[in-house]
Amino acid sequence: MKNDLNNIEKVDIGKFQNDLISWFSEEQRELPWRQDQDPYKVWVSEIMLQQTRVDTVIPYFNRFIEWFPTIETLANANEDKVLKAWEGLGYYSRVRNLHSAVKEVNEKYNGQVPNSPKEIADLKGVGPYTAGAILSIAYGIPEPAVDGNVMRVLSRILLIWEDIAKASSRKVFEKAVRQLISHDNPSAFNQALMELGALICTPTSPSCLLCPVREHCQAFHEGVQTELPIKTKKNSQRAVQLAAVILKNEHGKILIHKRPQSGLLANLWEFPNIEIQEPLLAGRKQITELFRNTYNMNINLEKSIGQIEHIFSHLIWNITVYSGVISQEFQSGEEWKFVTFDEMNQYAFPVSYQKMLKLYKEHRS
Ligand code: ADE
Repeated sequence: MKNDLNNIEKVDIGKFQNDLISWFSEEQRELPWRQDQDPYKVWVSEIMLQQTRVDTVIPYFNRFIEWFPTIETLANANEDKVLKAWEGLGYYSRVRNLHSAVKEVNEKYNGQVPNSPKEIADLKGVGPYTAGAILSIAYGIPEPAVDGNVMRVLSRILLIWEDIAKASSRKVFEKAVRQLISHDNPSAFNQALMELGALICTPTSPSCLLCPVREHCQAFHEGVQTELPIKTKKNSQRAVQLAAVILKNEHGKILIHKRPQSGLLANLWEFPNIEIQEPLLAGRKQITELFRNTYNMNINLEKSIGQIEHIFSHLIWNITVYSGVISQEFQSGEEWKFVTFDEMNQYAFPVSYQKMLKLYKEHRS
């Protein structure tokens, strides 16, 4: 049968653990979250690393820990500052969940990240992967931490033909890790699998000749390593057309808007925008009218200054960017503010809006 774990019997588990962990002790990258085993730092790093590459995460991680060095400092931090620390990393629900879970740990567990699988899995935003990573890396508990990289590595070593795009497949891989994991050093074992996936057992052209566990790898043995893992494509992303306007008032200040407190990019700041049908079909008059109807705002569009694409996992925004002036005394408040360019630095904007500001500055000069 192709889809079960029969092949695990062919692995000399003790030797496999040894080869993997010895390689990791020699070759692991020096990464800031590996300097100690502080469960808070492991937690922050694992959340950042979920949808973001290591190179991108490093400076964000260092700054985050500088700003919020402990559970207590993060628990007591103001949300705007926490979002600012995450600005540009994307998937902002990660940091909102982290913030609320850290508050819970601070109150309920006296600032100590719990070390029981049940309690840790109940924290907001802590899924099975993150729970396993914290328990194994920080507490040395032999729990699986299975993400896409680990599934790729193990699908090759054990010749597992499950479709890793299916949510149910993770259980198969967790079961495999429970059998393979070193009880002497679960932390090094799990990190070594991650490191192998990052450095050697890469998606398209794995460096099998450098692989420390090649002799255990059944895909290599059969020459099918590039056929694995099986990963079907998800549904394609839906495209949404937006018109965004950088609006100046008579004092030269720019209008910014706080996004709603739930949903996509919640609580981040943006320039006023509306959904349109097609950029080329939506005339200036139509856009001006949509602003009046949606926000009760009278604007004069000046010129179109560019086009920006923002790709999410399920959605693509095509944003046509305009400059303009706001031709009335618009009431600002909690959600709407007029700010100078300098003041804008205190607010967290999605990357697409930072790009718009750059376009705007280029067009002025
Ligand atoms: N990817 C996910 N977790 C990681 C970690 N702890 N170190 C390096 N890469 C990772």
